Amino acid sequence: MNKKVTVVGAGNVGATAAQRLAEKELCDVVLIDIIEGVPQGKALDLAEAAPIEKHDARLTGANSYEASANSDIVIITAGIPRKPGMSRDDLLATNRKIIKSVTREVVRYSPQAILIIVSNPLDAMCHVAIEESGFAKNKVIGMAGVLDSARFRAFIAAELNVSVENIQALVLGGHGDTMVPLPRFSTVAGVPITELLDSEKIADLVKRTRNGGAEIVNLLKTGSAYYAPASAAVEMAAAILKDKKKILPCAAYLNGEYGINGLFVGVPVKLGSAGIEQIVCLNLTEEEKKALAHSAAAVQELVDAMKKMGE
Ligand code: APR
Repeated sequence: MNKKVTVVGAGNVGATAAQRLAEKELCDVVLIDIIEGVPQGKALDLAEAAPIEKHDARLTGANSYEASANSDIVIITAGIPRKPGMSRDDLLATNRKIIKSVTREVVRYSPQAILIIVSNPLDAMCHVAIEESGFAKNKVIGMAGVLDSARFRAFIAAELNVSVENIQALVLGGHGDTMVPLPRFSTVAGVPITELLDSEKIADLVKRTRNGGAEIVNLLKTGSAYYAPASAAVEMAAAILKDKKKILPCAAYLNGEYGINGLFVGVPVKLGSAGIEQIVCLNLTEEEKKALAHSAAAVQELVDAMKKMGE
């Protein structure tokens, strides 16, 4: 039997993730959305592309969660996206309510699933999902670092005119303006970019990475990025489905690691069939530690704001 992944939210990110999961033949896919007809229509459309794309992944769309029963992974993309001028945090109250109700339904039908959260503000939504699900911390994972690092990698590759495949990059911290790109751990065929680019250029690339989501929002005007976010979520899902033990930067619930307690923050983790199998602790410089603590404080602010919201 194929593995089963449910994608909640059949909008831009969700439908693109469903397409990539199916076309890579990683699993069967169930798309769920509150809008009647949309998940069904998109799943059918994707299924009709299958003979041409040459895969046998089964795609189903539904409005009820029954169809999602016994999923191995549930990717949550439901919510409203950012509009120009909106920060990820403006989404807090609306998406909190959505993630609460979605998580409740998801765990009712898939109590063993691993949750990959995509909805923004990402780190805060991970808190909502872990609280509502009652799941262990290895089974609730936020998609942020893979996307932010991919943006950093794309910008480094373009700047140096080398293949994106040669670039490794690392972005830690919350998925917001305080994220922490780490040039020291970002390499071109193994060589740190600090040896290849001057500090001014690196600062430009770091700034563009931090602003990567907003750059796309400002261009699209009617929504936020979805091709790269979908790719990032699918890379995480693939690592889990194939038990790859792949080290990727993800939002993980920290219990003292990096001096952070009881908070979702982006750090390198090892992803395998159990979800987060290890949190990888790097030796950070004082400056890097300070930047990470600053980013964690921004996540904490959102968590505190949510505590005041009540039900
Ligand atoms: N249950 C299921 N689906 C829902 C719910 C809900 N309670 N509320 C909203 N949705 C659906 C919408 O109907 C829509 O189809 O979520 C989908 C969101 O899709 P888009 O509006 O296209 O947004 P998208 O660009 O996919 O972004 C989704 O991911 O990257 C983040 O910030 C982004 O939080 C946003 C999320």
